[in-house]
Amino acid sequence: MVKVIVAGFKGRMGNTTTHMVIEHKNFELVGVFDPRATEKLLSESNEFSGLDVPVASKLEDIDTNSADVWVDFTSPSSVYGNVKFAIEHGISPVVGTTGMTDDQVAELQKIALTKKIGGLIAPNFGISAVLLMQFAQQAAKYFPNVEIIEMHHDNKLDAPSGTAINTAKLIAEVRTPKEQGNPEEKETLAGARGANYEGMHIHSVRLPGYVAHEQVLFGSEGEALTIRQDSFDRSSFMSGVAVAIEKIQDHDELLVGLEHIL
Ligand SMILES: NC(=O)c1ccc[n+]([C@@H]2O[C@H](COP(=O)([O-])OP(=O)(O)OC[C@H]3O[C@@H](n4cnc5c(N)ncnc54)[C@H](O)[C@@H]3O)[C@@H](O)[C@H]2O)c1
Repeated sequence: MVKVIVAGFKGRMGNTTTHMVIEHKNFELVGVFDPRATEKLLSESNEFSGLDVPVASKLEDIDTNSADVWVDFTSPSSVYGNVKFAIEHGISPVVGTTGMTDDQVAELQKIALTKKIGGLIAPNFGISAVLLMQFAQQAAKYFPNVEIIEMHHDNKLDAPSGTAINTAKLIAEVRTPKEQGNPEEKETLAGARGANYEGMHIHSVRLPGYVAHEQVLFGSEGEALTIRQDSFDRSSFMSGVAVAIEKIQDHDELLVGLEHIL
């Protein structure tokens, strides 16, 4: 049995993950963590009656002795501290939280390597998003003119999404850097052309009702290609999270991207 702590269990993704871990025959939930928690045991809430799993609202209250894997679906401002804490306590992090800087990721990778702890940061646990990124990288070899539109629910804190940034990074590996659009273009409303990653533009849409969606648009002389993925339900991320929990202890470094363990 893999012993799992879920950080951010009061949130949308954390709640779905908590249920998945409880129901999975190879996992044991040994702790949950969220600063919004007021209960001491999970069984105090009707949703989880009968489950005497300790609840922590502060990092220092977490019993780290029995845990193998730390699943993190928290917030851009807390994820670095949480993951560092997990690695320093010998727990393998499986991180879905987006919004960490490249420097923060590099710092965590250094610590994980020193401690020989396997971990995964996956900006998207959905197989459709992983495939979209791979297809987009393939297409960018032939279509260097590309724009990315990502669409999420309006409670999302970071923009652009981690998946959009990762898509742009993967495309940049095969695309000669190029400033797109008319060199003379001027925004009459600031932000109209979106964010700029090595000349590619990324647009973030935030609307209620959406979960997580992305389109990669390629344009060329007389033709266009659009690649799109839609995550309609948070349960779609759970098979990826489960695979990560099962496999991550076989590694001894902090990996970025679900494709590395599939
Ligand atoms: N990788 C993926 O496949 C994927 C999919 C969906 C969402 N996400 C990301 O997951 C994160 C959470 O998304 P959400 O929709 O569940 O958000 P949410 O706001 O519903 O939940 C976040 C939870 O984290 C808690 N939290 C805040 N600080 C904390 C800390 N220091 N320690 C522990 N918990 C803390 C909050 O109290 C809240 O309950 C976001 O960064 C989002 O972009 C990733």
